Amino acid sequence: MPPDIVIVTGTRPNLVKVAPLVSAWNAAGVSPGIIHTGQHYDPSMNDLLIRQLGMPRPDWSLSVGSASHARQTAAVMIGVEEILMEVRPSWIVTVGDVNSTMAATLAAAKLKPRFPIRLAHVEAGLRSGDVRMPEEINRIVTDRLSDLLFTHSREAGANLVDEGVLPERIAFVGNIMIDSLRTHLPAARKLKTAKSLGLITGEFGVLTLHRPSNVDDPELLASRLTEIQEGTPGVPLVWPVHPRASESLRRSPVDWNQYGLLLIDAVGYEEMLSLLSDAAFVLTDSGGLQEEATAMGIPCVTLRATTERPVTVTQGTNTLPAWPPTADGIRKALSQSQAKTRESCQPELWDGNTAARIVRAIHTFGSTRTD
Ligand code: UD1
Repeated sequence: MPPDIVIVTGTRPNLVKVAPLVSAWNAAGVSPGIIHTGQHYDPSMNDLLIRQLGMPRPDWSLSVGSASHARQTAAVMIGVEEILMEVRPSWIVTVGDVNSTMAATLAAAKLKPRFPIRLAHVEAGLRSGDVRMPEEINRIVTDRLSDLLFTHSREAGANLVDEGVLPERIAFVGNIMIDSLRTHLPAARKLKTAKSLGLITGEFGVLTLHRPSNVDDPELLASRLTEIQEGTPGVPLVWPVHPRASESLRRSPVDWNQYGLLLIDAVGYEEMLSLLSDAAFVLTDSGGLQEEATAMGIPCVTLRATTERPVTVTQGTNTLPAWPPTADGIRKALSQSQAKTRESCQPELWDGNTAARIVRAIHTFGSTRTD
């Protein structure tokens, strides 16, 4: 019998969200089918995480690779459509806000007249309000077309209601990334990744930048890095570099390793958690790190004009500097985040049991198969 539930993954952050779902379904005696779109494919962005997260190999690999937004979206749609037509599952489950998420949703939604497939989106309702971010477009389209919307915060649910979504389509289940975090933090803490890089616990910062608006233009990236360094004087910063940023760094006239930045290749999931847990603070433009920093009580400055995760600011350790970021703005934001670290509390339902809630909710709706 082909799987009745199909889950889609494609990128590094997708894997962190999909892994707990797969194990919760397995614990309930169900084997969902896994489609891997291949949007991320480098061993450090993919294979290493699959291994560390203890995920089974995907049932289908689309190998779409890197391309323009339209080409990548189209390639995922074609691959997902073929699989769904053959398998005819009751459910397709997508996570997050990457191109693979939106493309799989579009393909599935257009098959509804052919067979009774239901669409579930995990991490629904996040909105930055900035449609120049590709992720914002992906979020809007995915939520608009999905039947069941799993949210990680009350604000996310309120965003959906504001857009006219009926409350019965929304289920507040908590943050799936925290399931992975809780499972892997003990092993990550033993790795001592910072020490192996010659860094002293509590005396360094972690930096990550990969958003097109920060890294695609080498001159703009250089100016961001200058402000960041001047805003954190005397503190070594370790930056595991995303492949998207490597390209701009290669074109930069400055050798940043000479200027107090420790540039290293992209690291695995557990190495990143290890670095975070020993760091004094994190400076980032990643969505996931804002949440992980909140869950771990690490001061976080988000190097973006907006965040779709305001709960990390109101209840967590996150602060956004005035935009565009200056050294002074970064310094002020960091000291606000450090003060929050002492006051912050854990957002509701970020408790490591989100996958179990999702599995239960989908089970309640049941199968659409009649045979
Ligand atoms: C994607 C997501 C972003 C997410 C990020 C997490 C979209 C629109 N963006 O951004 O929301 O925060 O993943 O990492 O879906 N590359 C490699 N090896 C890889 C993957 C990418 O070298 O394994 C390089 C390629 O040059 C590629 C570039 O990175 O063109 C960008 O990759 P892409 O998947 O298009 O977007 P990300 O920037 O990774």
